[in-house]
Amino acid sequence: MIILTGGIGNYVHYNGKKYSYFAGNNYLGLANHPDVKAASIQSIKKYGVNFSASRCTTGTSDIHLELEEQLSIFKGNQNAVVFASGYQGNSILLEILKSRYSAVFMDQFAHPSITGNIPRDITNMQYYYHCDVIHLEDLLHQHKGFRPLIITDGVFALSGEIAPLDKIYPLVKKYNAILIVDDAHSTGILGENGRGTPEHFKLNNAENIYQTETMSKALGGYGGFISGSTEFISLIRDKSTIYKASTALPAPIVAAGLASLKIVRKNPEMHIRLLEKARELKKEIIGLGFQTTLDNTPIVPIMLSEFAKAKDLSLFLENNGIIVPFMNYPVKQAKFIVRITVSASHTVDQTELLLEMLNKWGVKNGTN
Ligand SMILES: Cc1ncc(COP(=O)(O)O)c(C=O)c1O
Repeated sequence: MIILTGGIGNYVHYNGKKYSYFAGNNYLGLANHPDVKAASIQSIKKYGVNFSASRCTTGTSDIHLELEEQLSIFKGNQNAVVFASGYQGNSILLEILKSRYSAVFMDQFAHPSITGNIPRDITNMQYYYHCDVIHLEDLLHQHKGFRPLIITDGVFALSGEIAPLDKIYPLVKKYNAILIVDDAHSTGILGENGRGTPEHFKLNNAENIYQTETMSKALGGYGGFISGSTEFISLIRDKSTIYKASTALPAPIVAAGLASLKIVRKNPEMHIRLLEKARELKKEIIGLGFQTTLDNTPIVPIMLSEFAKAKDLSLFLENNGIIVPFMNYPVKQAKFIVRITVSASHTVDQTELLLEMLNKWGVKNGTN
């Protein structure tokens, strides 16, 4: 296991050495940004580390409200609510929307925060083949007497594939369904304004689509959020047991979120440059003969047919000063994945070294 002995950025320190870092989810390079760190430190001086109370008792501060207002502006929505983690966001929506569905249709590779949080009394759970809308429609058709909820990752964490919402949404309308999109890996990345997968497919204001999002990846901070109409967000505040019975986000985290959003707002081209870098890297990796996925996201998986090969590639890179993890992670996948993530701040030298090492390993061991 990699035990970090400092913060994350283009490089990390571990085991007494410095490594080029192509891992994690710090897509926009904000996790260790000087402005984000300074804002966090300042907020500790003013508020301390923790408000030590739930939001609905005495845990709501002025900066929580400011963060929610800034998130709603970022999302182009009326309102937003923040809570402990993106993982919780799926539970919150599944709980709040429960009167509206009686069967759940999930992508077979959905994240555990989806699959593990389906309410216990929903017994009709169907898995459709990965991103396969024909199979999804078959299942919706077979279960016509039920009120359907379709739920999927917006961008799949390991493979970086984008869920085909342009094809799923017509089924939402046809079968009178609701759709939850877990956009943990799309916030700040996809769509013209970085508002995620629905915006990427120009479905931003489409009816019956709900998004769960997180500040812990591209936004470099921590904490989950949901945005929407004031009426819907009030419903979450009034009715969600998870929201009501958990401790409010700590001040340094709230302040980090505010600082990150400010940077994103001031640099609207950041995510575009990131996606260009990722597109270029994918092209080069395909050129080396490796198998990867084609969607343009900062997640560039190298897909190998054997467990041992994936582990070996990751170790080879580590021995040559580059961290790219083999994903031994609780998400189902058809292949063994060595997951490269691109960050906006990676330099050309870093990318060239990565490609040189991948080539060296591929020539010796084969690329699939
Ligand atoms: C698809 C997906 N959903 C939800 C989460 C959880 O987000 P958070 O880390 O903010 O709890 C993750 C993060 O690992 C994820 O990959």
